[in-house]
Amino acid sequence: MNEITITKPDDWHLHFRDQDMLLETVPATARCFGRAVVMPNLVPPVTTAELALEYKSRILAARPEGSDFEPVMTIYLTDKTSVEDIKAAKQAGVLAAKMYPAGATTNSDSGVSSLESLYPVFEALADHGMLLLIHGEVTQKHVDIFDREKEFIDQHMVNIVNKVPHLKVVFEHITTKDAADFVLGAREGVAATITPQHLMLNRNDMLDGGMRPHNYCLPVLKRSTHQEALRAVVKSGSPRFFLGTDSAPHTKDRKESDCGCAGCYSAWSALELYTQVFDELDALDKLEGFASHYGADFYGLPRNTEKVTLERKEWVVPSNIELKGGHNIVPFYAGKTVSWSLKK
Ligand code: DOR
Ligand code: ZN
Repeated sequence: MNEITITKPDDWHLHFRDQDMLLETVPATARCFGRAVVMPNLVPPVTTAELALEYKSRILAARPEGSDFEPVMTIYLTDKTSVEDIKAAKQAGVLAAKMYPAGATTNSDSGVSSLESLYPVFEALADHGMLLLIHGEVTQKHVDIFDREKEFIDQHMVNIVNKVPHLKVVFEHITTKDAADFVLGAREGVAATITPQHLMLNRNDMLDGGMRPHNYCLPVLKRSTHQEALRAVVKSGSPRFFLGTDSAPHTKDRKESDCGCAGCYSAWSALELYTQVFDELDALDKLEGFASHYGADFYGLPRNTEKVTLERKEWVVPSNIELKGGHNIVPFYAGKTVSWSLKK
């Protein structure tokens, strides 16, 4: 197959950042995605309905002319989030709340330190038909970084899913066979997003033959057996797994640093790279479900009606993106050849 036409996809997890950066990130996503779930880990974080609405209007203002791209807004849970905050978010059209365990990743310092006390908030999310989006890693420093996702399942995920049976939960950017197996075996209303980098790479791609900071993200890339498990679940066509790029820009100087930031900026290549992966798996027939159907169905939103076409045509990801003000971003897969292109 040299061409594939699918329903316009959505990105169920990404980071746009704010201010001038929106002029780079929003067009990159709007070029091929109908909607995107926008993560709230700004500095300071988007913790209330009011902040989410203001942020939404800044995103809309950065859309290319004529674009009907729609951001799906989220709020950031903290130890102080109240049941009233959830109600206000619902009334403002916010669909989901994101839970970062405090200190788990970029801009998560205000995240949740006492998960147990948040159960009334989880109940409120369920009552209002909102989703809980989870960064599923423990933050205990003695736990090996490669084991933090599995530990989170055992310590917290099982409880959240079982104690709040009507809550829709998205286990974000899963990286392990443990997480894939957990989601496959969980009750109805539990799903997961998977990034292009976790399907394409394993920890050797970050550490073998030199350290590659642009492949560093969180949860960190795992060993190849986990990568293979993720590839197997997307190939299976299970509707519990859908597209979430976790596209997360950081400037080049902050990635190539003594203490480099986590995040891969994949917005310009993600859809093409997912297509490449499904092609490698001989599963192009499963791409549309993963990219365009299952996420919308899980969120209870209509599927997009437009179509996009990808063609088998090689292109090279630029090695650098220059931002206004002199900063640079090295995009994910920089300088490498992608075998599928978006047809204009
Ligand atoms: O790699 C990551 N980058 N993982 C996250 O969870 C956050 C993200 C970011 O905001 O940069
Ligand atoms: Zn993220």
